[in-house]
Amino acid sequence: MESFWEKLPRPFMALAPMADVTDPAYRRLIAQTGRPDITWTEFVSADGLFHTREKKGMQDAENPLVRDLQYTEGERPIVAQLFSSNPEMMEYAARYATELGFDGVDINMGCPDKSIEKQGAGAAHMKNPERAKEVIAAAIRGTDGKIPVSVKTRIGYNKVEYQEWFPHLLSTGISTLTIHLRTRKEMSLVAAHYELASEIVSFCRAQNPNVLLLANGDLQSVAEARAKAAEHGFDGMMLGRAIFGNPWLFNGESPADHTPEERVRALHTLATYFSELDPSKHFAILKKHVKAFVSGWDGASELRAKLMETTALTDFQSILNNYLKEPVENR
Ligand SMILES: Cc1cc2nc3c(=O)[nH]c(=O)nc-3n(C[C@H](O)[C@H](O)[C@H](O)COP(=O)(O)O)c2cc1C
Repeated sequence: MESFWEKLPRPFMALAPMADVTDPAYRRLIAQTGRPDITWTEFVSADGLFHTREKKGMQDAENPLVRDLQYTEGERPIVAQLFSSNPEMMEYAARYATELGFDGVDINMGCPDKSIEKQGAGAAHMKNPERAKEVIAAAIRGTDGKIPVSVKTRIGYNKVEYQEWFPHLLSTGISTLTIHLRTRKEMSLVAAHYELASEIVSFCRAQNPNVLLLANGDLQSVAEARAKAAEHGFDGMMLGRAIFGNPWLFNGESPADHTPEERVRALHTLATYFSELDPSKHFAILKKHVKAFVSGWDGASELRAKLMETTALTDFQSILNNYLKEPVENR
């Protein structure tokens, strides 16, 4: 199957999945201000999709999980990230993602969150490779060969053990492996292990040269990502937290390249998309962006304090508008 992966530039720059950060609203803004070569959705529970749609018969328009899977054409190619330890649920959700028109399905096998691991999903897959393979096979069945399946994982659970873990993944028919260069135990508390990157790439290429490899962890800029891709031989690089407050990241820009006015305007646009795309979403999720967007200039902390006191979106947008010389029309 010739998939979109082959058509991407090398090395390609990917936007990482980040729950409650790279949601449909922020992704829409990023697609307009600094588009990555490929976008991931935040992770969505395959079991949750099954239960809400099939068991409860919830309408898609009212289903928060379905809303998390909204995307615009400008975000393509876009991959839906799913999590589950249940093959039946994964097959169901992968089929649904295919119907929704996603370019690919990615399975989360690295999340250290206790609530995810308790379900046997996320990083817990590393403890049960046979189950992990069943889940991948189920996703491939669900897509019916129409779109590629990929996995995002870490280099081990309690210790570096990619030599035991990755061969299971590389033998399954996945198109792409995203490697977060830390163990589960390390969470995000230590520096990502780029010192191991070249040997990991060689190991994976020897196991299966057809699987594309992305590195992830601590990348601050596109320039840094390009340099590391060249040094270690990755096909693509994935950037996560560097997108906080910087929707221009994939243009090679930093927040300092933009005036406070531009940054406030971008936050206003994000607030608009936030209210349009999922009015039921908790306002606190929007507020998470405030610190990253509004900092680093005289008066930023006062503006931030005012924004954090608001309890309604219209007040939030009015405060931003009061700051702007040319206010944006509130929608
Ligand atoms: C707030 C937050 C939410 C995240 N949510 C997800 C997720 O839904 N799926 C996933 O695979 N990884 C998730 N991650 C991990 C990131 O995708 C990425 O692997 C990690 O942040 C390391 O990359 P970075 O140093 O470029 O941020 C999340 C990370 C953060 C900080």
